Amino acid sequence: MTAPRTDISRMPRGGFDASLLDRLLQTGLSEYPDRDDADPQLRRQAIEGQEWTDRMLHTHQRVAQCVLDAVAERPDPTVLELGAGRGELSRLLLADHPTLTVTVSDIDPQAVAALTEGPLRAAHRARVRLLDATDLDAGDDEFDVAVFAFGLHHLSPTGAAQMFAEATRVAREVIVVDLSRPPSPLHLVRLAFVAPLAPVIPFLHDVMISSLRSYSPSAIRTLVAAAAERSGTEIDVEVGRLGPDVLVRARRSRVA
Ligand SMILES: C[S@@+](CC[C@H](N)C(=O)[O-])C[C@H]1O[C@@H](n2cnc3c(N)ncnc32)[C@H](O)[C@@H]1O
Repeated sequence: MTAPRTDISRMPRGGFDASLLDRLLQTGLSEYPDRDDADPQLRRQAIEGQEWTDRMLHTHQRVAQCVLDAVAERPDPTVLELGAGRGELSRLLLADHPTLTVTVSDIDPQAVAALTEGPLRAAHRARVRLLDATDLDAGDDEFDVAVFAFGLHHLSPTGAAQMFAEATRVAREVIVVDLSRPPSPLHLVRLAFVAPLAPVIPFLHDVMISSLRSYSPSAIRTLVAAAAERSGTEIDVEVGRLGPDVLVRARRSRVA
C-alpha cells in the first residue's frame, strides 16, 4: 500500500505523484447538487441528466451486481449504502436478493426525506438513515458490506480518508465505485469539448466539475493508507475497474 505523506489534505486529486498538468486539472468548485446557492432548476436539470445517463449505461445495475457478488456466501446479508442519493442502488439490491437488508443513507436531509417517502418506503428490508460517511453512527462490523457509489469525488482528501477508515470499521468489506480519472492529455481534450457547453447545459457543468474532482488510483491508495494510519489498522485495498468507472474494494485485515 502507498504510504501516506504527512499532510493528506494537500494531496492533489491525481495523487502525490501526479504530473504538473494533472495537478492543474482539479477544482475547488462544486457540482450544482452540492451548492446551497444553486438555482433549483439548474440543480434539477443536472440531476435529471445524470439519472438519464445512469439509466442508459446501466450504471447502478453494474454496482448492484458487484455488491451481490460480494455477499454471495452470506445467507442474510446486511448492506450499508452511503451517499445513496435517490436510492436506486438499494432498490435494485432489494429486488435482486430475497433476504438482503439494506440501510440506505445520505448526508443530505432532503435526500433522506425523499428516500423515506419514496419507493423504498414500503420495503420492510430497508431502513433509511441520515449518515455522514466520514463519521458513521454505527457499530464495528455491523454490516457485511458498505457501498459508496459516485460519492468519493464529493469528499476532500481528508474526508475521503475518514470515509475509508469509518466504512472499513463498520463493514467487513467496503465497495467504492466512482468516476475514473482520465490520463491528463485525454482529460484536457475532454474538458476542451465540455467546457464551452458547461455554462448552458447543467449536466455538462457537473460532468466537468466531477471529472476535475475525481481521484486517481494512486490517490485512492494513499487515501486508504491514510485511513489505515488514522485507525491504527491494516487495510487491504484493490483498485480496479467496473466498466468505465473505478472500483475500490477495501477491508481491514482482521486477526482470525
Ligand atoms: C453523485 S451523488 C450519488 C448518489 C448515488 N450514490 C448514486 O449512485 O446515484 C453523491 C451523493 O453523495 C452524498 N454525499 C456527499 N457527501 C457525503 C457524506 N459525507 N456522507 C454521506 N453522503 C454524502 C450526496 O448527498 C449525494 O447524494
